[in-house]
Amino acid sequence: MEKKFKKIGVLTSGGDAPGMNAVIKSVTCAAIEKGVEVIGILGGYSGLINDRTRKLTALDVTDIISKGGTMLYSDRCDEFKTEQGMQKAIATCKRHNIDGIIAIGGDGTFRGATDLSIRGIPCIGVSGTIDNDITATDTTVGFDTAMNTVLSLGDALRDTSESHARCCVIEVMGRNAGYIALETGIALNAIGVVLQEMPFDKERMFAKMKKMRELGQRSFVVIVAEGMGAPYAEALTKEIEEKTGIESRFIRPAHIVRGGIPTLADRSFASKCGYKAVEALLEGKSDLVICSRHDEIVTTDIRWALIVDRMYKGKLKDGDLDKFTPEQIEEMKALCKERHDYFVKNYEIVNSIGC
Ligand code: F6P
Repeated sequence: MEKKFKKIGVLTSGGDAPGMNAVIKSVTCAAIEKGVEVIGILGGYSGLINDRTRKLTALDVTDIISKGGTMLYSDRCDEFKTEQGMQKAIATCKRHNIDGIIAIGGDGTFRGATDLSIRGIPCIGVSGTIDNDITATDTTVGFDTAMNTVLSLGDALRDTSESHARCCVIEVMGRNAGYIALETGIALNAIGVVLQEMPFDKERMFAKMKKMRELGQRSFVVIVAEGMGAPYAEALTKEIEEKTGIESRFIRPAHIVRGGIPTLADRSFASKCGYKAVEALLEGKSDLVICSRHDEIVTTDIRWALIVDRMYKGKLKDGDLDKFTPEQIEEMKALCKERHDYFVKNYEIVNSIGC
């Protein structure tokens, strides 16, 4: 098996996430340990197209596990979606004798990985996105750190809101998913959490705020997921003032939440995923994504992962399910239900206990 793989490539693509470096470190060290050379591709798929690469040694990655961002840089690359771009990327792989690639990122990254593997370059995907919006995995690299960053910011905002008897409305990242909003909403004791997955009862929140203010509560935290679209959170801030009389401030931490030192959970998960990805690639596997399911690190077919994502987001296209067996489709439906139930259950909790 290891005969076939003498050299592998690793890249990070899409929005960066804390813990991506930990995946790079793990991939590099695990591969070198197995006698395989590692080439870092700089700037995601655009680096592959434009032949921007560097050899990675164990020494190169020795101190990156604690660093946010990605030492390989990242990009969103439209050219990679074209056949011409794809052919340039394949030419780079051939030029460097890259036998396979580990691609770290979100669903766009995985789509790129399948496109490459169809053209003969085996690829394994590892999740790297703060949004946690990959349906096939329970958690993604970067999610835990992002939540903890929001937590620190939210605690700081609670302090100043308490001093000034204000409400702070915090918009958190998550273009297509409200996971960060929901979890941090619980942890910050938000009186309201607004996310695209669940209907929000604004009037109920206003009433609760007024009641709590009458009882003497000074500060309030409201979390809005970015996916609600701009200027939802700004408008809500004004409306809170109008409807409750509570002075309010709008805060958008935005990309601050995407940087920073990865947490233990992210470093550990990232390291395990990187190791598992190398193991799978060197076993001759391709088109897999490394996922966490019920606390276990498992491999999942990338195409299955992409389609279950579409199913969950209600974006299935004609023919999407044609290549899957009835059992696989049932499995997809069960997973979508699991994700939906997670939101229902936890939204009820945040709404009951938030104050
Ligand atoms: O990586 C996901 C994400 O952080 C989203 O939550 C956000 O909408 C988007 O990336 C921002 O992208 P950009 O870095 O291109 O502004």
